[in-house]
Amino acid sequence: MKIVSTIEEVRTQVAAWKKAGETIGFVPTMGYLHEGHLSLIEAAGENDRVVVSIFVNPMQFGPTEDLASYPRDLERDAALCEKYHVDLIFHPTAEEMYGESFYSYVDMDVLTKELCGLSRPVHFRGVCTVVAKLFNIVTPDRAYFGEKDAQQLAIIKRMVQDLNMPLTIKGCPIIREEDGLAKSSRNTYLSPEERKAALVLSRSVFLGKAMAEQGEKDADRIKAAMTAEIESEPLARIDYVKIVDLKTMQQVKTINGGILAAIAVYIGKTRLIDNFMISD
Ligand code: PAF
Repeated sequence: MKIVSTIEEVRTQVAAWKKAGETIGFVPTMGYLHEGHLSLIEAAGENDRVVVSIFVNPMQFGPTEDLASYPRDLERDAALCEKYHVDLIFHPTAEEMYGESFYSYVDMDVLTKELCGLSRPVHFRGVCTVVAKLFNIVTPDRAYFGEKDAQQLAIIKRMVQDLNMPLTIKGCPIIREEDGLAKSSRNTYLSPEERKAALVLSRSVFLGKAMAEQGEKDADRIKAAMTAEIESEPLARIDYVKIVDLKTMQQVKTINGGILAAIAVYIGKTRLIDNFMISD
């Protein structure tokens, strides 16, 4: 496994693999890898070569968000990547990615204006821009994203479709702790008391999912039950509980086709997300 920090080194290595007729699977991450990332790396094993990027992208953090405190541990991440047969880690600096000045952005309408886009107004522009750049640098055949960030996954799929990017996007299921909490690098921020309180997210998601699976079609009724579950936890503060169309991210009243039921909840100062989806 190689660890490189320059765009040139990635291009040289990928060109050699492509010359040999090999396919490239790509897993973009911000590091501090957990089993969720490892499941993406495993899925990427369907390609001849696996590239993982580790880059805490400043552009997707708002001014009051956790860019400085976001957990980082390259040594630990590299050991995990080695164990999971990653061929190349791309670990650039912000300067390597954005240079001394940077003026070009990939932005998106509609899908970015709901859910996390409301409380994180610059987030998806930063995600789309960095992911588009990473796709241009790594030129993968397939790229892998977690369904925990369901809105991000829908946005990336749409960007690839709208901008005719020549790769396939693959979504992979949410990986949970044994007690239900969705795996996230941000779980490391939680105190023991908050960690217990955070279980309210998965409880709310499981409750909503069970209602939908039992045939409840009224989105407001499902949302009300999910909201009440979250409000039963004193340490939890709701950012949103919403049920949206899976393709447009616009709220629905009735569950007919594909939907995403998504929640964002502050546990103390830590903002966590979770969801369930029902496909078409
Ligand atoms: O999901 C993430 O970790 C990030 O948003 C991503 C896709 C690596 C872009 O920085």
